Amino acid sequence: MAHDNPGINYLAMDISPDVLGDARRNIVRAYGGEEVRNILLTRGDIEHIRDFLAPEDRVERIYISFCNPWSARPKHVKRRLPHPRQLMQYRDFLVDGGEIWFKTDDDTLFRESLDYFAACGFEAVHISHDLHDEGFSPNYVSEHELKFTAQGVPIKLGIFRKLPEAPDIDPVRWLRPAKTVRDLENAPD
Ligand SMILES: C[S@@+](CC[C@H](N)C(=O)[O-])C[C@H]1O[C@@H](n2cnc3c(N)ncnc32)[C@H](O)[C@@H]1O
Repeated sequence: MAHDNPGINYLAMDISPDVLGDARRNIVRAYGGEEVRNILLTRGDIEHIRDFLAPEDRVERIYISFCNPWSARPKHVKRRLPHPRQLMQYRDFLVDGGEIWFKTDDDTLFRESLDYFAACGFEAVHISHDLHDEGFSPNYVSEHELKFTAQGVPIKLGIFRKLPEAPDIDPVRWLRPAKTVRDLENAPD
């Protein structure tokens, strides 16, 4: 993506140095000897993104690719990268009208994230429950995406736009509505 868009600066962040090492090797391969001028690889915990980015950074788009679903225990869902605890932090440096492109293989995470984005003042501009089947383009396939696609798992994509009006919620104590229409529709028979 960065190689195809030399006029855009990318900040790539992961908490794991091993993953950043893999990313570095992929970047070197993609640039094929050209100087890399538009990517900064940074090790960091996105739960503390405010330590890295401030409102004056003016980020135009955020990609969340295959974050951990944290679905096994309810008390862990707050660690999800699209959880309101994190989404309300992204609002600080994401410009009004800026977008979050969220991809996952996980149905529960995807479904529950639709509520997170709505609660945090984002409108859905594109929702796909199988982006490969839809032929969405351009799509840059990540390592996890490759693995799950090979297993036949549909990849979900949501594109959400930041609305200027900040919602009045407490992101730490926010609780997802216990039963939404979507839950009822998706409940097992
Ligand atoms: C399932 S892997 C996906 C890796 C890659 N994004 C992909 O799509 O192939 C989840 C990644 O999220 C990283 N991660 C998990 N929690 C994080 C956090 N709080 N801050 C930054 N990275 C995190 C992990 O180190 C891991 O590399």
